Formats: sequence, structure tokens, C-alpha cells
Amino acid sequence: MNTSERQPLVLAIETSCDETAVSIARGTNEILCSEIASQIAIHKPYGGVVPELASRNHNLAIQPVIAAALENGGVSLSQLDAVAATAGPGLASSLLIGDTTGKALALGLGKPFYSINHIEGHLLSPFIGDDNGIREGIALVVSGGHTLIVKINAVDDYEVLGSTKDDAAGEAFDKVAKMLDLPYPGGPEIDKLAREGDPAAFDLPRSMIDSGDFQFSFSGLKTAVFYLLQKLPEALSETDLKNVCASFQQAVIDVLIAKTIAAAKQTGSKLVAVSGGVSCNSQLRRDITSACEKAGLELAIATPHHSTDNAAMIAFTAAARIEAGISPSLLNTDVNPNLKLAAD
Ligand code: KG4
Ligand code: ZN
Repeated sequence: MNTSERQPLVLAIETSCDETAVSIARGTNEILCSEIASQIAIHKPYGGVVPELASRNHNLAIQPVIAAALENGGVSLSQLDAVAATAGPGLASSLLIGDTTGKALALGLGKPFYSINHIEGHLLSPFIGDDNGIREGIALVVSGGHTLIVKINAVDDYEVLGSTKDDAAGEAFDKVAKMLDLPYPGGPEIDKLAREGDPAAFDLPRSMIDSGDFQFSFSGLKTAVFYLLQKLPEALSETDLKNVCASFQQAVIDVLIAKTIAAAKQTGSKLVAVSGGVSCNSQLRRDITSACEKAGLELAIATPHHSTDNAAMIAFTAAARIEAGISPSLLNTDVNPNLKLAAD
């Protein structure tokens, strides 16, 4: 038997928000499959996620998505060594579907169950497929619910250096997109329009860029966009729309990057790891790449497929915890909509 065959087969379920996702990992070496049933079309008419619709649709999708993962991963249920599910943060009614299904599966198979923190999933996702493994560094986690700067010391040893005082970066993208009448989710729409806009067209605030800490605030920027829109003609021209998107996007990116690089310098870290839905943003990817090059820092950035919510990051995190010798979770571990990564 070679080393890879001795790695545990872990099936993980992610249902924290509006994606029903299942993945199977072979240890931290390999992701065998990563299935996602997206509910975007279901929630689009409402301009955001409707919790009850989300949980009911998880309930409908979970069995077929598990079946697809087993088939595409070429794995049978009896081969699994462990089962994992996201325990939080997220919508309680959505989390419960994945959590309960995962526990039932683990119980039925007589295998250990791992409750996984969704933020830890994002945090470690830049290391998926990285031959050098999970290592020390400064992480920027930017999603619809979170904006965090974290010092990674080792698996399960994290220090939160800063977070947002109000809106998460992705939330700011989504709210500004709503003001601009763009479809949900707004981040990718702003990203697309900004490609043809001028990021210097409008002078928008880089909130807290000089605060000397690693805290963020995006609500002032959102308000600044609101007042900017009052001054522009109500029916925005195509050029104005693209320029507002580019200027807003650049204001968010400038603060995210300045603080991440400052955190790496202050802690003497050599690596920057970037993850979460907003790390799909094409301008952020370009700017963080050049900022890290300039500062002599190694950059690990989650692939776009592993940036937005997925179960591969949950399977990878569970496998990393198993490798680190961390005990399985008790089957009466509750889900926690406000689960924290570490004391912050
Ligand atoms: O990580 P994620 O899928 O879910 C959470 O855990 O929140 O992140 C979703 C967020 C949304 O706010 C979405 O608008 C944003 O990520 N997002 C983007 C892009 N793609 C997704 N924001 C900016 N540019 C993008 N290309
Ligand atoms: Zn997420």
C-alpha cells in the first residue's frame, strides 16, 4: 500500500448558506470530488437568501448531492473513514440539514464525525493541492459574512488579528450592487463591470487605512457610494455605472491589501493566504499578487472554485484536523450560527 492509499477517506457536507455541497477527500493529499447544488436561481427573485427556502431546498438536494459525490469520487459508503459537516457560522436552519445528515451517516457507518468551522474551511482552502502543506502565515479571509486577518501558526492554532466593525467586504459588494440595481449576488457583477471602468473616476474613502491596526469598516464606503449616486443622474450612463463599480471595488481592495501586507510585515510572516468568495475578484487577485511580489512575500490564494462556498474546503479541513491528531466531535455537538474561529 502506498502512502496515499493510507490517507483517510473523508466525506464532508457544507450547507451553511445557500449551496448544498458534498466533497470527498483522501487525506489532505487529494480532493476526489466536489459537488455543489447552487440555490442562486431560487433566491435571485428576492435579492438575497431566504432562510426557510434555503433549508427546505438543502433537504431536497442533500441525498442526490451525496450520491453524485460518491459516484464521481469512485467511492462507496463502506470505504469512508470519517464524515464531516459544517457546524457554523451560517444560517441555523441550513446548518442543521448538513449537520444532521452527516451525523446520521457517521452513526450508521460507525465512523467518527467531525464538526467543522466554515471560516476554518475558507482559511485553509489556499493550501488545497499545495505540496508544501498548511504552513505559518497571514491569512486574509474575505467572504459575504466575514472579513478577517488571521495569523496561522498551525492547524487549530489561529490568532485573529482583526475583523470588520460593521459590514463584511462581500456584504458591501452585495449592498452596493443592490443600490446599482445589479442582480444578486452582486460581487461578480461589480467585478465584471469594473473591468471596463476607471478606478480613479470617483474619490471614495479608504476607511481605517491609517488606523494602525487590522480592523476594517465598510459601512462608510457604502454610504459614500449612496451619496455619490444622489449626485449622478438617476438613470446612470453605462460609463458612470462602470466607473462607480471600479472606484468602489478599488477602495475595498486598497484597504484589504494594505492591512494584509502590514500584518505580514508586523508578524514577520513570509506567506500570505487569501480565501473566501471575494478572493474570486479579478482585480483583488491581480493587486495582491503584485503587492506580495513587491513585499517579497509568498502568496497562496484559493482557486476560484475553492473561494466561494464549497465542501472541498470542509473535507480538507477535516482531513487536516485528523492528521493533526485532533479528536472527533461528539454527536451531540450543536450547530452554532455565530461560531467564531478563535477569540477575537
Ligand atoms: O465565501 P462565500 O461564497 O460565502 C460566504 O461564506 O459568505 O462568499 C460570498 C461573497 C458574496 O458576497 C459575493 O458577492 C462575493 O463573495 N463574491 C465576490 C466575487 N465573487 C463572489 N465579490 C467580489 N468579486 C467577485 N468576483
Ligand atoms: Zn463562506
